Amino acid sequence: MILIKTIDELTNVLFRIRSSEKSIGFVPTMGALHQGHLSLLQRARKENEVVVCSIFVNPIQFNNAEDLAKYPRTLDRDVELIKSITDVIFAPEPEEVYPEIPTEKYDFGDLGKVMEGAYRPGHFNGVATIVNRLFNWIKPDKAYFGEKDYQQLAIIREMVRQKSLPVEIIGCPTVREESGLAVSSRNQRLTAEEKVIAANIYRILQEAKKNSNLPVSQIKQLVVSEIEKIKEFKLEYFEIADAKTLQPVDKVTEGNTIACIALYLGGVRLIDEILL
Ligand code: PAF
Repeated sequence: MILIKTIDELTNVLFRIRSSEKSIGFVPTMGALHQGHLSLLQRARKENEVVVCSIFVNPIQFNNAEDLAKYPRTLDRDVELIKSITDVIFAPEPEEVYPEIPTEKYDFGDLGKVMEGAYRPGHFNGVATIVNRLFNWIKPDKAYFGEKDYQQLAIIREMVRQKSLPVEIIGCPTVREESGLAVSSRNQRLTAEEKVIAANIYRILQEAKKNSNLPVSQIKQLVVSEIEKIKEFKLEYFEIADAKTLQPVDKVTEGNTIACIALYLGGVRLIDEILL
């Protein structure tokens, strides 16, 4: 495993790898690595000769300064955790990635206007900017993203389509704790009691799935009333949408409809999803 901090060194190392025609699998992360990241890296390991992981807390995708400041940064621990399954770790400083203020502008149409796009203005522009830059430097054959950030995955696929980038995007299932709680770097900011409360998110999503024969308005009512029973939760949105376009639907079509939720618990923003 080699740990790289600069784009020059990254470009040199990857040039040598590509010259020997080795396939490159890439997992972009913001660190504070957990089982979810490990599952992406393990899949990349199985499907590629070389595995690259980036660890970079991307400031321009945060639209809340406190969230950025509190985002866990645990590079030494992260490197220890993944060094046996990763060949190259790219962990640059912000000045290396953004020597000048980035000016890229993306338009993802309606896909970028709903859910996270509506509640976190500029977020997906920041995600697309960093992922596109990383793709250009690393030029991976395949890149791996978790389905927990369901809309992010759809946005990345759309960016790759718009820019005709030669990379295959692989979506991987959400990894859950035994309680059902989706693993996330943000869980590190929850207390033990809050983690128990947070497990209700997936329980309620499963309730929604069990009731997917009902009209969407009734499923939404059911979920909202279940969430409201838990006083520690502050719901941001619960949406039922077409699994590809992410536009709202009136009726669930089995396997083609996704339910997505975002809420706050003790100041920590959590998101989750379930295919209905
Ligand atoms: O999902 C994440 O961790 C980030 O949004 C990503 C894709 C690494 C871009 O910063």
